[in-house]
Amino acid sequence: MTLSTARLLPAVALLAAAASAQQRPQPVMGQPLVGLTPAETTLFQEGLATFSRPILPSEGAGPIFNEVTCAGCHNVPAIGGFGTRRVTRFGIAATASTPFQALDQFGGTLLQDQSFSVMCRETLPPQANHTALRGTPIVFGSGLIESIPDSTIIARANNQPSNLAGRVHMAQPLEDPNGPMRVGRFGWKGGVPTVDTFSIDAGLNEMGLTSQFLPFENAPNGDMALLAQCDTVADPEDMPDAAGFTITDRFTHFQRFLAAPAQTPQTGMTGELVFEAVGCADCHVPSYTTGTVAEDALSNKLIRPYTDFLLHDVGALGDGIVEGEATETEMMTRPLWGLAQRNAYLHDGRATGNTFEGNVEAAIAEHGGTAQPSADAYAALPQADKDLMLAFLASLGRTEFDWDTNNTIDEFDWFFLEPLLTGPEPATPVTPDSPAALCDVDADGDFDLVEFGSLQRVWTGQ
Ligand code: HEC
Ligand code: HEC
Repeated sequence: MTLSTARLLPAVALLAAAASAQQRPQPVMGQPLVGLTPAETTLFQEGLATFSRPILPSEGAGPIFNEVTCAGCHNVPAIGGFGTRRVTRFGIAATASTPFQALDQFGGTLLQDQSFSVMCRETLPPQANHTALRGTPIVFGSGLIESIPDSTIIARANNQPSNLAGRVHMAQPLEDPNGPMRVGRFGWKGGVPTVDTFSIDAGLNEMGLTSQFLPFENAPNGDMALLAQCDTVADPEDMPDAAGFTITDRFTHFQRFLAAPAQTPQTGMTGELVFEAVGCADCHVPSYTTGTVAEDALSNKLIRPYTDFLLHDVGALGDGIVEGEATETEMMTRPLWGLAQRNAYLHDGRATGNTFEGNVEAAIAEHGGTAQPSADAYAALPQADKDLMLAFLASLGRTEFDWDTNNTIDEFDWFFLEPLLTGPEPATPVTPDSPAALCDVDADGDFDLVEFGSLQRVWTGQ
């Protein structure tokens, strides 16, 4: 049943009382997972505050760093998001007779381009003949990604089409140095297996915060004498607070409890079939079920990140840096969730167009190596099929009712959505391909009182 708003409005008051437990739009970016316990919600909020605030020099930030807040880079369209900040990797490129050199002795491979003292600033060493930029990815849904069992990703590597040759990137969790290696799944080269490992690593390498797991400061260009002059805080710097948590623990709490990017409609768009037909889904694998972990909100959840978490040889798209087990030309398949609210795609942000469609097509065109046949297959599609696929990709990162994809559900969206529902002959059933699917929260093929109630609750902040 499709109702006109004229008939709906008087019904809303009745509805609000009855429907509080009903279906809601998916969380917008930056919101916590649905179903956190009160204690977990508190950890999320305290973690958000720590992720957002500058870490002070007296707490251990510096002496060299890139930014002193995580949110200084991860902030679009909300804290935990992507960002325009890019960091620089460097090294000496391989030759026919010598392998890639990471230049650890000169501060490689990550440049820290800021310092509290001019004297200690790190610069690109003259020995480096290769640099690569890396953009800041979103961290939404990190806890869910972490909760995918290793065995699921390994099974995928063993069963994928042989022409893709994707492989798992095994790595040692920093917080569990004597435990087993785990399957890496974070970072552009997939070399980081857990959220906590990323917090510890970024704490040191982006901010200069030493911890019990990484207790040694980065010396500016490897110069220990200079470091001694600029480093005033005893290591390890990151010690537990009154509640027993370190700063890195708190970064981790926030990230693990962030909701995944929304997808609307959640399934059934024709464009997803095109995405499968041209081979995108062979690497950008749609869905996973998380394993059983300590928190219910992360356990046994169906998620749709659109990646296989495997390294692939993407030819010239590789960044020329060797990192862990990943070679110069290997990159991890990037999750596509959240795509609609991001731009500057690919590891160095090179894929830019003036529009969403332009950005996506630029990214596809750069796919080389084992990803090239899929990019070619896309290029050969009739325009109508391309349009269907692009419409599907635009559903990744969009919550219900967010007509203008700006991470906010407001009256402005309704201004454009209402005519789709209240015309003289509103389209029913609402299919996943119809623009009105944005309003079909329970995916039952129409827009009715249930949905209007949920929209009303968002507007009134309930
Ligand atoms: C100077 C900018 C910058 C700062 C500050 C920063 N990040 Fe990042 N973040 C990045 C970049 C760039 C990457 C990609 C890293 C790579 O693969 O080389 C990244 C990647 C990540 C990822 C992996 C996401 C994924 O799915 O691959 C996580 C998690 C993360 N950062 C957490 C943090 C935390 C926690 C902090 C604060 C301690 C932090 N970041 C501070 C720029 C930054
Ligand atoms: C062989 C595996 C493979 C196939 C097939 C593949 N991709 Fe990718 N894709 C990747 C890898 C690896 C990256 C990360 C590249 C990088 O690090 O710059 C990526 C990145 C992307 C990005 C950028 C995401 C971001 O956050 O920056 C988009 C968009 C994308 N792929 C879309 C597609 C589409 C659409 C298709 C089908 C036409 C496709 N891919 C086929 C492996 C693949």
